[in-house]
Amino acid sequence: MSNKLFLILLLVMGSVRLQAQENTSHQIHLMPWPQEMKTNDSNFSITEDFSVFIHGEQDKYTRISKAAVRFIRYMTDKSGVFVTQGFPNAKGVAASSASLHIYVDTEANIMMGIDESYTLTVTDTGMEIHATTDVGAMHGLSTLLQLIKADKGGYVFTGIEIKDEPRFVWRGLMMDVARHFMPIDVVKRNIDAMALVKLNVFHWHLSDDQGFRVETKTLPELYKKASDGLYYTQAEIKDIVKYADDRGIRVVPEFDVPGHGSAFLTAFPELGSKKGMTYSVERNSGIFDPTLDPTNEKTYEFLDTLFKEVAPLFTDVYFHIGGDENEGKHWHENPEIQQFMKENKLKDNHELQTYFNIRLEKILAKYGKSLMGWEEIMTPNMPKSALIHSWRGVNEGMQPGESLIKAVKNGYQTILSNGYYIDLLLSVEDHYLVDPMPDVTLTDKEAKRILGGEATMWAELVTPLTVDSRIWPRTAAIAERFWSAQEVRDIDHMYERLNTVSQFLELVGIQHLKSQEYLLRNISNYQDTHGLRQLTTISEPFKIYSRNAGGTQYKTYSPFTLFADACIADAKAVRSFRKLVDAYVDQSDQTVKEDLMRYFKAWGAIADQLKTIEPHAPLVSRVIPYAERVGEIAVISEKAIENKRISEEELQRLKALLEQKEDPEVNLDVELAVTKDIMKLAEYLAKN
Ligand code: ACM
Repeated sequence: MSNKLFLILLLVMGSVRLQAQENTSHQIHLMPWPQEMKTNDSNFSITEDFSVFIHGEQDKYTRISKAAVRFIRYMTDKSGVFVTQGFPNAKGVAASSASLHIYVDTEANIMMGIDESYTLTVTDTGMEIHATTDVGAMHGLSTLLQLIKADKGGYVFTGIEIKDEPRFVWRGLMMDVARHFMPIDVVKRNIDAMALVKLNVFHWHLSDDQGFRVETKTLPELYKKASDGLYYTQAEIKDIVKYADDRGIRVVPEFDVPGHGSAFLTAFPELGSKKGMTYSVERNSGIFDPTLDPTNEKTYEFLDTLFKEVAPLFTDVYFHIGGDENEGKHWHENPEIQQFMKENKLKDNHELQTYFNIRLEKILAKYGKSLMGWEEIMTPNMPKSALIHSWRGVNEGMQPGESLIKAVKNGYQTILSNGYYIDLLLSVEDHYLVDPMPDVTLTDKEAKRILGGEATMWAELVTPLTVDSRIWPRTAAIAERFWSAQEVRDIDHMYERLNTVSQFLELVGIQHLKSQEYLLRNISNYQDTHGLRQLTTISEPFKIYSRNAGGTQYKTYSPFTLFADACIADAKAVRSFRKLVDAYVDQSDQTVKEDLMRYFKAWGAIADQLKTIEPHAPLVSRVIPYAERVGEIAVISEKAIENKRISEEELQRLKALLEQKEDPEVNLDVELAVTKDIMKLAEYLAKN
């Protein structure tokens, strides 16, 4: 092909793409993307006559009936339409005249591997969902909700035909409620969000060094001494399990043993591996030494008592025992433990931990539970019935997914979390492209052992106020990875849809957007927040645990209401700015010059605005040095692009500013997320 022809082709393709973008109201913004889908030209209008009929429904309080009620509420909240009938199968609504027909064959018993498929049809005359189970039908409702769009002055459902089912059976979100306790309402709204994006496992990390979060009647010391009063009553646990079950979501509890044991040992020091030690609830972050003593029979009596009491609170068969990050320091130091290992021919800590895990597996089996644990539990003698949770990667000196491959080759079922550590605060695309299915040859049998994955929300640096913005919307993209076809991996398409799903997440109660507004109000001490907000659009919190390096700068009771907490992993302006820079530099597109200058002008004005509110906002003072640096960067860049050149002196100044770090004592903990892009632009201008 001649260069010219290629260029013309590119231009034509570009204009088609542009048209598609301009026509956003006609785009389908579903997430997860369905397996099969065909749009039609019709829409179904939302009017006051809207009604839902569940066929074969006898009882108002079935899962699908309650889901339909929630659906109608979300729909009216979104559309503002005063529907005449607010409930499915309302008296006086003939089945034949309903807007939405739901057909379900059976009510599922929520467990791994149930049928979650559904079909959905929307035309201008009506809508239908067909599913084998009520869980499939609820997925259909989640899809339908995301099909609401504005059209000609009203709201409609987009005309479509969908046939859908999940790629993986295990699609999880883990919430750590030990490092920072998450009250019931926080958990519930996140379960609602999970349902919206078809996640189906809520992994509840209930104990760690920083707290034990469950009321225990047989062992009350646990929550009385090791929760600071922040724990779930058993009634609340059952309520959450039911709440999740109502949404087709399994709950897998985790009690992390034998390491991560400070909370356990604060209550029962006699079970610790270091005799005579005074244990206390940990306030810092990191990996700590307190470890249960696996050579003490009382440890097993204790765990038997605990598991016997807590196991029935959860209906799912899987029970997570943690098992991670036990460095065994107190095992090495304890001569009795060393003697025990010799007598029992346990040659190292791994073998001792396996001995412990096998004892636990037997206890759990008595209470009808299957053991799962983090990948460290996978030692040669571990029974194949254990489910291996793969998590370690390059940060831990391993290849990503290394343990996942090892697990399936050794006959274990497994799920993947490496690559889905959302607490690393990486960009959504870093997670989105990670696939649970590794890029190696596996037999069908081995591949089937990969059940799916889980996003992990470790909570060292999150609170009930910020947790939603750390989970969402990025976890919606991870949910798509677990549900949709492997080939669905176009980054631009994902971002286009992520913005819409983010709005639906807010509709179902997620507070990621409003918590930022609150945080900025608090930082500004209730003055004008627009400068701060502008700064959040280009600032991202430190990534990969570089915030709170060492684990002691922030304690569990430190403030998490700072500027870094108001910033998010994918700062809002970064992608559009990056596209402009790329267009300018890579395609010599001069038309974007004005847009770039507008950005720089806005960023250059932030520091002055902050100074106007600083006299009455002490927290703003901490942000000003950074805002001034950003301002100087913006002024140099604006001038450079205006003149289409940058002097060597200015280039060096710009480089120095871009590389400068803020004073760590200030706890600003954010990075300028457009650093690379500005550098790229400056170097381009320097060459001209
Ligand atoms: C883990 O992140 N320690 C499982």
